Amino acid sequence: MAVQVEQSDAIELELLLEAIHRRYGFDFRDYAADPLRRRLNRRARAEKVESLSELQGVLLRDPACMERLIDDLSVHVTAMFRDPAFFAAFRREVVPILRTQRFTRIWCAGCATGEEVYSLAILLREEGLYEQARIYATDLNEYALEAAAAGVVPLRRMQEYTDNYIQSGGTGDFSQYYVSAYDAARFNRDLIGNVVFAPHNLATDRAFAEFHLILCRNVLIYFDTPLQNRVAELFCDSLTPFGVLALGSRETIAFSPVADRFAPLAARERIYRKAA
Ligand SMILES: C[S@@+](CC[C@H](N)C(=O)[O-])C[C@H]1O[C@@H](n2cnc3c(N)ncnc32)[C@H](O)[C@@H]1O
Repeated sequence: MAVQVEQSDAIELELLLEAIHRRYGFDFRDYAADPLRRRLNRRARAEKVESLSELQGVLLRDPACMERLIDDLSVHVTAMFRDPAFFAAFRREVVPILRTQRFTRIWCAGCATGEEVYSLAILLREEGLYEQARIYATDLNEYALEAAAAGVVPLRRMQEYTDNYIQSGGTGDFSQYYVSAYDAARFNRDLIGNVVFAPHNLATDRAFAEFHLILCRNVLIYFDTPLQNRVAELFCDSLTPFGVLALGSRETIAFSPVADRFAPLAARERIYRKAA
């Protein structure tokens, strides 16, 4: 009996994800099942329906419900200089490589509300590398991208961000990068002068350029293994020879089909360099 219930639940989930894909083109079929199911159930409760099948009916007819679901499914937890040790390793290991290039094309995939992009821009500026860089910052979620372009963050997080910045090896005064008003801080517009924000879905969209550096941190953890592998191949194809790939602290390229095309630059901080 329990097996039958499990089977029915699995079919219900599969049909819902298929319906979303066919109706809206968003592909969540290869996301890790348990967290996905939890978020879908939460959305079902919020929409006051009893099951995923009922949620499917609502979603098919109501694009606004789909927008709410997208927001539930794309977890935007992020921070300025998140994992300061990563940014310290970046300064140590990646900056010297970037210095040998005349131009650096960077892809920041799954950039959420942009804190990672502003962090990178500050770091590159302090290292004198910003002017030669062009950053493509992408995410599945267009609302997150709008917030990223606006560059406004709650003032209450600035102490944490300042601490992260200092721990990451920041060389200036963090407060010079934003202005505060009331309970918000707005990052200086010149930090995104060389940034292009655009929607891109790692599950369905293709490579769109060749990059010297790709950052995709804390995104692959939401995918199942086959999708993680496909995205690893996408990154491998999108990198120039000797290009650099940076992942999140719980992510690795080591077990992917392209593992032997990369060598670690900073193993603990999940920074890899592609072979020729
Ligand atoms: C936890 S945030 C990571 C933000 C930032 N990279 C960091 O490490 O702080 C994960 C982001 O991945 C995005 N995302 C999830 N699935 C995606 C997909 N298929 N394609 C592109 N972005 C995706 C979400 O919208 C969310 O903004």
